Amino acid sequence: MAECPESSTGTEHLFKVLVIGELGVGKTSIIKRYVHRLFSQNYRATIGVDFALKVLSWDASTLIRLQLWDIAGQERFGNMTRVYYKEAVGAFVVFDVSRHSTFEAVLKWKSDLDNKVKLPNGKPIPAVLLANKCDQQWDGLENSPAMMDRYCKDNAFIAWFETSAKENINIDEATRFLVKNILSNDFIHLPENRDVDNVKLTEEPEEAKDKAWCC
Ligand code: GTP
Ligand code: MG
Repeated sequence: MAECPESSTGTEHLFKVLVIGELGVGKTSIIKRYVHRLFSQNYRATIGVDFALKVLSWDASTLIRLQLWDIAGQERFGNMTRVYYKEAVGAFVVFDVSRHSTFEAVLKWKSDLDNKVKLPNGKPIPAVLLANKCDQQWDGLENSPAMMDRYCKDNAFIAWFETSAKENINIDEATRFLVKNILSNDFIHLPENRDVDNVKLTEEPEEAKDKAWCC
């Protein structure tokens, strides 16, 4: 997490947030929905990693640059995740409610995450579980809030949300929750000379630049 110096307009933060989970669970779709307000039925697997940036006017004096790292599902079998996870301050772990196997893989992603990145105080980075494609039938899982609450508690997720990139359900809410949690870790400071501009980001649409956070 980088805290930029106070400017005349207030404080600016740069937060690196990871989006991880099995192939085809909807990570890219969630990011596209959130940043560009778009959804497509076409599936094109992400190769390696992709990036998107969303600028949030959090409140009158706080600007947040949210750098979303869209990590390909197939990367769980590669050895690059350690590099991709570096300096992240929050994560979404996504599964597809209509494919039970993707829920079974959640803990593999969570332990990969916890083994490879930590907050400066040594604690795990906050992770939110996203039960995506909630516009479809749950497969082999009882859609029980009590069960999911217990699962999150047992496995150190700070929260879970049912989401749909297709129907635009709960994506803003989940992100707001995670950002709030990241902001509360205000003891975190990265080295001052960290060159965040070295990271190439996809172009930010006008709409995303101008829009204040709203949900
Ligand atoms: P990888 O890049 O391979 O890791 O996959 P991904 O997790 O990025 O999945 P992606 O966003 O490409 O979505 C995979 C497929 O699921 C696409 O055909 C999407 O249109 C579809 N999809 C994504 N989100 C939803 C959703 O909320 N509901 C429904 N019905 N389909 C969705
Ligand atoms: Mg993808």
